[in-house]
Amino acid sequence: MMAPRGLLTIRVSRRSFLQAGTAAATAAAGLVSRGSVVRASAATDSSFDPWVEVNAENLRHNVGEIARRVAPRPILAVVKNNGYGLGVANVARLLEPLSPIAGFAVVKLAEALAIREAGVKKPVLLMGPFDEAGLDEAVAKDITPMVYTPIGDVLERVARKRGRSVPVHVCVDTGIGRVGVPHAKAAPLIRDLAARPSVQLQGVMMTFTEDPAFDKEQLARFQSLCGSLQGEGVRLGTRHAASSFGLFQHPDAFLDMVRPGMALYGMYSEPEFRGLGLLDLRPAVSLKARVIYVKQLRAGESAGYNRAYVAKQDVWVATLPVGHADGLPRVAAKGGRVRIGGALYPLIASVSASHSIVEIGPEPRVAIGDVASYFDAQDGSRPEDLAQACGSSVYDLAMHLNPLLPRRVL
Ligand SMILES: Cc1ncc(COP(=O)(O)O)c(C=O)c1O
Repeated sequence: MMAPRGLLTIRVSRRSFLQAGTAAATAAAGLVSRGSVVRASAATDSSFDPWVEVNAENLRHNVGEIARRVAPRPILAVVKNNGYGLGVANVARLLEPLSPIAGFAVVKLAEALAIREAGVKKPVLLMGPFDEAGLDEAVAKDITPMVYTPIGDVLERVARKRGRSVPVHVCVDTGIGRVGVPHAKAAPLIRDLAARPSVQLQGVMMTFTEDPAFDKEQLARFQSLCGSLQGEGVRLGTRHAASSFGLFQHPDAFLDMVRPGMALYGMYSEPEFRGLGLLDLRPAVSLKARVIYVKQLRAGESAGYNRAYVAKQDVWVATLPVGHADGLPRVAAKGGRVRIGGALYPLIASVSASHSIVEIGPEPRVAIGDVASYFDAQDGSRPEDLAQACGSSVYDLAMHLNPLLPRRVL
């Protein structure tokens, strides 16, 4: 491990950390998930590099909360975008043993395959695009495609090749205007797929725009479509629509199964949801690093590119090895705070690619090696707190976490 500059100023208690560094790095390596992300060997991580912590207990707690709210319906866990930053294989492995979890949903074939490579057996729904070769690979690995185009002949071809029927979920666009067969044109497609012996229609799904008034119209369109097809005797399988937003806003849209992402990871997707008392969510993800340098700026001295910060009086500042390349939004320097040793300190100057700076105040109250938390499960430094303080979103904070950062599962 390279000694950071200023090492000689380190406190005695930090020396023991440094001496233990090699052992600690080795221990941490055992906790780093492999298979979920392509990353440099854990053995090459410096103990001063930032890391992402995954709190398994909080993840389980959140599943319990959601299961209680939607009982007796199952949960299709959305683990796309590297498991919302926690590591797709990490979360799939941690969630699979929990009985309310019916399966997993991702948007990239590579993530679906990573879940299978991690040994996870529960159903995996691929909500993203694929070509015929990709479909073939998906079917071979027991991955269920989401479909919305006249793909029946291709499904039959793959079914013949694989000697098995192909399960599908049909995505219906009830007004979001992205993927999904338009609701007014959905009935012929669904009838066609349901009639093919080599296709198993396992579910139909839709996504809300999260516009409260229009959501009602969307749900009515979906219900009307499903009702008339069921009236004809078409077996639709599992109907699902509710994301985290729906868990709070649309109990009438829980249908046969719910499909949340963010709530599983313990974050309130909208600030208003936090005070409702409907779900007690506990953040299951933290972004942490150790202070790498502490210095005093004299009045008039500056910090950051373009001299973004100029000290009004003598002040101590600490440098942290976390920048926008790690997933910290640049706007975090505009109101965000970092927890170090129980206190919250403002991020100042600018967030550069690999560094950020916090203002400590008139006394040098932190030291090299102190653990700093950009967000964690504590009130005041929850992801929602950082997002709100700097005008960012919990989706940006979680999903932009660099996949190369080590994940430590606690
Ligand atoms: C189709 C679909 N369903 C469910 C979700 C889960 O959403 P959330 O993380 O807000 O619960 C997403 C994520 O954006 C999605 O794209």
